[in-house]
Amino acid sequence: MKEIEVKTPARPAGSYKILISHGMLGKVLSAAGALLPKRSLFIVTDANVVAAGHLQTLTRGKKVNKYVIEPCGEESKNLGTIAKIVDAMEAASLGRDTTVIALGGGTVGDMAGFAAAIFKRGVPVVQVPTTTVAQADSAIGGKTGVDSSQSKNAYGAFHHPSAVFIDVDTLKTLDERQFKAGLAESVKHALLADAEYFEYLDKNMDEVLARDPDAMEHLAEVNSRIKAFVVQHDPEEKNLRRILNYGHTVGHAVESATGYSLLHGEAIAIGMVAAGKIGMAVGLGDGRKLGRVEKVLDRIGLPVVMPKGIETPVLLEAMSRDKKAVSKRPRFVLLEDIGKVHSKDGQWAVEVPEETVEKVLAELSS
Ligand SMILES: NC(=O)c1ccc[n+]([C@@H]2O[C@H](COP(=O)([O-])OP(=O)(O)OC[C@H]3O[C@@H](n4cnc5c(N)ncnc54)[C@H](O)[C@@H]3O)[C@@H](O)[C@H]2O)c1
Ligand SMILES: [Zn+2]
Repeated sequence: MKEIEVKTPARPAGSYKILISHGMLGKVLSAAGALLPKRSLFIVTDANVVAAGHLQTLTRGKKVNKYVIEPCGEESKNLGTIAKIVDAMEAASLGRDTTVIALGGGTVGDMAGFAAAIFKRGVPVVQVPTTTVAQADSAIGGKTGVDSSQSKNAYGAFHHPSAVFIDVDTLKTLDERQFKAGLAESVKHALLADAEYFEYLDKNMDEVLARDPDAMEHLAEVNSRIKAFVVQHDPEEKNLRRILNYGHTVGHAVESATGYSLLHGEAIAIGMVAAGKIGMAVGLGDGRKLGRVEKVLDRIGLPVVMPKGIETPVLLEAMSRDKKAVSKRPRFVLLEDIGKVHSKDGQWAVEVPEETVEKVLAELSS
């Protein structure tokens, strides 16, 4: 069992552990019970995770209070589902002495976390992530929330988990496209913080794509360490945490311009290539290194050029609406080298002339 500690200054203050292993899902409820004694448990999961057998493994067939989200995915990530989760908790006569267990991908984790943040003014949540996105990213760091009819994550709260249990065996049942898209966040972590990790991904891609448990545990461990480090230093995204948005300025624009037909990680892969080219245009990095990044993304099966029919002006317009835009000018996280983020005047997200961005986007579309 690998163990990583995350210190949290607030909400709730203290620290929590990320525990990583394989074949441990059946022990998670008793471990969560030992960690947070004398509490009722309430499980939030979704229909695909149940169909994949993970709820059965988690509960060992025991009857438990739960809410199963359906339909699965972003479609249900709204206030209506939160109301249904809270209703189900009340119907089960649960009180403040409840621990919410989030079993699933990022949508389940974000919703269960948010429901836990607001149920009777807040109860603990334990995250049990089952996707490459959730294990690398969303289960750690305390961001929870749901979408509005206008935008993603419009309602939300910081609510750190009391523990995160990562059983990499759960990834075995994940659909191939989802599995691969989620690996984009691992590449992102490597590029931001760890050149050695990038080498590992480059050299061990066969094992990674085969979902080898040792490789999956290694990824979970390094991803957790990197995300924990960043979150600890900037728990509420005032500055350093923005580096986690590497590739996301263009990536979010690509998601929106393609009408969300690309998965998040697929759009981020294109966004990371765009950020690499923008970096080169402002004198950072070199073509050979960017070539290595493109090669790794391509090996995973992620796109590295713009899908056909996506116009540069549409992307620029989407970017000016991005939440990180200051006075409508998009800001970019850029790399100095593989494993090292560029900063200017203490800022990690820097302004780039619009002509430069336009030129790079046009180049990626041709
Ligand atoms: N809170 C954060 O810091 C943070 C960070 C990144 C992403 N997110 C959020 O995460 C969400 C995306 O997460 P995701 O990609 O995990 O999406 P998801 O939860 O929709 O999962 C993807 C699909 O896989 C299914 N699934 C999940 N686990 C499975 C398993 N083990 N076997 C078979 N099927 C399984 C789900 O039912 C769903 O259909 C977005 O809403 C995004 O905003 C949040
Ligand atoms: Zn992302």
